[in-house]
Parts: sequence; structure tokens; C-alpha cells
Amino acid sequence: MEPRRTAVLISGTGTNLQALIDAAREPSYPARIVLVISNREAAGGLERAARAGIATRVIPSRGFTSREAFDAALDETLREAAAELVCLAGFMRVLGRDFVERWRDRMLNIHPSLLPAFRGLETHARVLEAGLPVTGCTVHFVRPEIDEGPVIVQGMAPVLPGDTVETLNARVLEIEHRCYPRALALVAGDRARVIDERVVVAGERPFERLILHPSLREACR
Ligand code: GRF
Repeated sequence: MEPRRTAVLISGTGTNLQALIDAAREPSYPARIVLVISNREAAGGLERAARAGIATRVIPSRGFTSREAFDAALDETLREAAAELVCLAGFMRVLGRDFVERWRDRMLNIHPSLLPAFRGLETHARVLEAGLPVTGCTVHFVRPEIDEGPVIVQGMAPVLPGDTVETLNARVLEIEHRCYPRALALVAGDRARVIDERVVVAGERPFERLILHPSLREACR
């Protein structure tokens, strides 16, 4: 099977994009990153894409009068690139219902919490505020409601005494960078399907959809 043509949408640093680029270098990986689109010209991830020889496009949010006009430009750009799958990786713009429905079960997002807990922004601050011992990240299919949709892969990380938003963010990012390539591989390899709004993985092996931070693996021994 030809690797699935995948576009990555970013707004910022692009460390998740980097994880996907690195994974897709493996010849047997079932997806190829063919285009990186940013809604911000200054997004650091654009540099990462250029370094990897991947085509980039900037579609500035502010250049459009309506959400529909922005979404239409995005859709056209994706079609021009013959993208089959879309990965949102720190893309900080809400997409309209029509656009999301057009890419139903072909568009993934990563969120830095164990969904459905802590939808929205400032997740790490809220996890610390709640005094929880564990948090994580989720890769899911995108639905029109923000941070909703069938879960493909989740990663877990401990919250440690003395953690700050910065230390927790760094720990969660470590597992994000393992979860996103795993989730995209399941989708691009045609192994993850949505049945009754739940993800079912063909021939699923234990822990294929769950990734533990290395410190948790130690603790579980
Ligand atoms: C990540 O924490 C991701 O979960 C969230 O935005 C952040 C993007 O980081 N959606 P990066 O740009 O991939 O480094």
C-alpha cells in the first residue's frame, strides 16, 4: 500500500509535527507528510518542515472575513496537495462544522489531557489545581465540538510533587511525541476504524492504544 498523503496543520513550535516527520522517515511507515499548513507566519514549525524538505503554506487567519472563507481556502489547499489525511498539531484555530464533516474520520487532533477530562486551554494548570496524580494526552478523530471525538491513542504521565505548568508540559510532550506517530500509523495503516463513535483497531495488541511515560513504566514493575 502507498503511504497515505498527510497534511499537518500547525500554529506554533511544531514539536509534534517533528515527531510525525521523524516517524514518517521510516520506509515502512504508512503515512507521508506532504504538506504543512500554518495559520501563523511566525510558526516555528514551518522551519522544521522546510528543513525536512516538506512543502509549506501559510494561510493567515486574519486574511479572511469569515470562518467559512478561511475553511474554504484550507480545504482547497488540502485538495491541491491531494491530502488524504489531516493532522492538527497545535493548530489554534477552530474549524467550522462543514469543514470538519468533510474530513470526518480522516482528521486527527492531539490534546494535552486525558480526554474527556480537561477539554479546552490551560489543561496543565487545571490538572495541578485539581491536585491529580496523573495526566496525559489524547489523539482523537476530530468532531465539530472542540476536543471531542473518538479516541485513538492515549498517553499517561505522572504529576510529580513540585511540578509546575512548565515541568508538566515537558513531561506530557514527551508522551505526545510517541502517541501521535502511533495514532497516525493506526489510521494510515487502515487499522483504526470508527464504529458507533468508538475506535476499533484491527488485530489490536495489548497496550497498542496506551502509552506510558517511562517513569510510570518503572513504577508499574
Ligand atoms: C501540544 O501540547 C498539543 O497537545 C496541543 O498544542 C501543543 C502543540 O505543541 N494541541 P507543538 O507545537 O507540537 O510543540
